[in-house]
Amino acid sequence: MYTLPSLEPVRQYDAIAVMTSGGDAPGMNPAIRGVVRAALHAGMKVFGIERGYSGLIADDMHRMTSTSVRNIVQRGGTILRSDRCEAFKDPGVRQQAAAILARRGIGALIVIGGDGSLTGAHLLQQETGVDVIGLPGTIDNDIFGTDDTIGFDTAVNTALDAIDKIRDTASSHERHFLVEVMGRNSGFIAINVGMAAGAEMIVVPERAIEVSTMGQQLAKARQAGKGSSGIIVVAEGREPGLTYRLAEQLREQGEDPRVCILGHIQRGGSPTGHDRVLATCLGAMAVHYLSAGYSNIMVGVNQGRIVDVPLQDVISFRKGLDPTLLELALELHR
Ligand code: ADP
Ligand code: F6P
Repeated sequence: MYTLPSLEPVRQYDAIAVMTSGGDAPGMNPAIRGVVRAALHAGMKVFGIERGYSGLIADDMHRMTSTSVRNIVQRGGTILRSDRCEAFKDPGVRQQAAAILARRGIGALIVIGGDGSLTGAHLLQQETGVDVIGLPGTIDNDIFGTDDTIGFDTAVNTALDAIDKIRDTASSHERHFLVEVMGRNSGFIAINVGMAAGAEMIVVPERAIEVSTMGQQLAKARQAGKGSSGIIVVAEGREPGLTYRLAEQLREQGEDPRVCILGHIQRGGSPTGHDRVLATCLGAMAVHYLSAGYSNIMVGVNQGRIVDVPLQDVISFRKGLDPTLLELALELHR
């Protein structure tokens, strides 16, 4: 559970809009529900924008009611759909977006997405004055200013479930498996999954490891005798699928690991209880922050507290993997 700030309403919007943008993440639906129900409770109209910024610039949006968000809290993906929209990087297009919102009488926009989506929201606010609130919605957990992001917990649990199954084959055949998890250039998913799965090795972009060192460790494990099997969790890094190349390099050293790329399975599925509560609180609190006069912020979590962080900071700084946690995880290798 979270500690919520106490906020006094000082501003009333006639209408606000909500969208999901970038890679989808389990928990986006409970976040939409939180926004819609809190806004209706505060007497505002709510518009749901389809397909992120693509829908905004196409004026593709519709009024949402309490019923629109009934029975969605348990559903993965996003009922508003999501998209990547190159055109929104053009300042002229952002001016058009602001004009569309103004024509509909929409005074504020809540954007649920990753750092790219939050960058778009920040620029829209700075250039056009539209009030915006961002919510961290990505499985990667790579957003500065928040300990947690919507979808991260579900993705970690989905990957764990898969690895527990892979381990059966790994031990039956005395094999090593390289399991690639998502996370772009950050190892948050890998480190958490690796630790919770009791992985024999964790490879993250934040800590380079020589292939020759990996080969030596695998050879040592193999020579240690029967039953040598193991899971090596690999963060995808700059491009999905690079783990195949890593396996090739290990083969050149006499190892024969199998590769399993978990891929988009990590983005789907019903959100965990943790993600549902997180997303619901963030969604509802985004509306409370708007009513309290805030704009151009992200609502996130810091040590169990719901907090506001300037979007300028969110997009300017990089969230690093805790070096102590990384050390601890690496210490637990066989
Ligand atoms: P995520 O939000 O998951 O990080 P992306 O980086 O793909 O995903 O960004 C999602 C969308 O946010 C982009 O398709 C674009 O519409 C918008 N966006 C990203 N970066 C910018 C930017 N620098 N300026 C304006 N809009 C951006
Ligand atoms: O941002 C989440 C993420 O899942 C990354 O970990 C991954 O690299 C990327 O999205 C892939 O997204 P897509 O297949 O939608 O381009």
